[in-house]
Amino acid sequence: SEKDLEAHFERTIERDQRVEPRDWVPDGYRKTMIRQIAQHAHSEIIGMQPEGNWITRAPSLRRKAILLAKVQDEAGHGLYLYSAAATLGADRADLTDKLITGRQKYSSIFNYPTLSFADVGVIGWLVDGAAICNQVPLCRSSYGPYARSMIRICKEESFHQRQGFELLMTMMRGTGGQREMVQEAVDRWWWPSLMMFGPPDADSPNTAQSMAWKVKRHTNDELRQRFVDMSVPQAAALGVTLPDPELRWNPDRGHHDFGAIDWAEFKEILKGNGPCNAQRIEHRRRAHDDGAWVREAAAAHASKKGEK
Ligand code: ACO
Repeated sequence: SEKDLEAHFERTIERDQRVEPRDWVPDGYRKTMIRQIAQHAHSEIIGMQPEGNWITRAPSLRRKAILLAKVQDEAGHGLYLYSAAATLGADRADLTDKLITGRQKYSSIFNYPTLSFADVGVIGWLVDGAAICNQVPLCRSSYGPYARSMIRICKEESFHQRQGFELLMTMMRGTGGQREMVQEAVDRWWWPSLMMFGPPDADSPNTAQSMAWKVKRHTNDELRQRFVDMSVPQAAALGVTLPDPELRWNPDRGHHDFGAIDWAEFKEILKGNGPCNAQRIEHRRRAHDDGAWVREAAAAHASKKGEK
């Protein structure tokens, strides 16, 4: 009966076991998982654009090869995640449609422009660094296919983070002009990276339920703090200044205090009014339209094979 199924689900969560595709789950759990996985998948796919912007203008063949590989990895992450969403009954074409009609979200961070090649390094260091901080605990998320996809994604993200840091190290050892480029990029990306973790806990409608279901293992503020604490020594090693005059070690808390985040900016971005929202969606829509012939050909091929 429904009651037994529900009890089984509750026990699975309680014992820290994984929920698998054929298991009965409450409607709310399915909805939450599809929402989070779809938003995550969309972020990976939209996230190809800001850095893709620099592939044709990379300063050397080596940097171009690295960047190409990295952007291709993001496409791969998107595909594992759409597949994970499909195990919950979501339809991939429907998810894409929801993305390009603005009915599903993707990460706020990808609505900022990439103005210099230093942005490639800073995205690797800070944006991928924040992504790892958020996603490593998701390797223990209660939904099996999502948790397993996170393991591989986190390994690749760690490589991305290191390539970003190495690129910045190289630039910081370069000319004064290169060091200025890095600092200027850090100034633009620091605060948006803190926003990636989502609204403060008090304004996060989904956290309590997602923690109870062990979909999320930490709150938004916990992970944001972890990221700040992690980034401070890395900034010192690089020789850049994080653009927050209130950032300092608090020995009582055992954490860094930091300044107030501009949540009005975050809300505007979520409403679609960020600097690049329209451009990102338009680009994705065009890519989808341009790919129509591939989907048609694949469908025709599949139906011919079916006839045989
Ligand atoms: N950008 C866009 N939307 C966001 C962001 C963000 N940075 N943070 C939160 N939101 C949205 C939530 O999706 C939610 O909207 P919805 O209810 O319409 O779906 C709303 O703001 C309120 O936030 P929360 O209640 O805190 O939502 P949630 O519990 O889902 O937590 C979080 C948000 C932390 C992003 C969570 O969904 C998560 O961990 N997702 C997986 C990681 C991910 O998506 N990463 C993508 C960027 S990293 C990368 O791809 C390189």
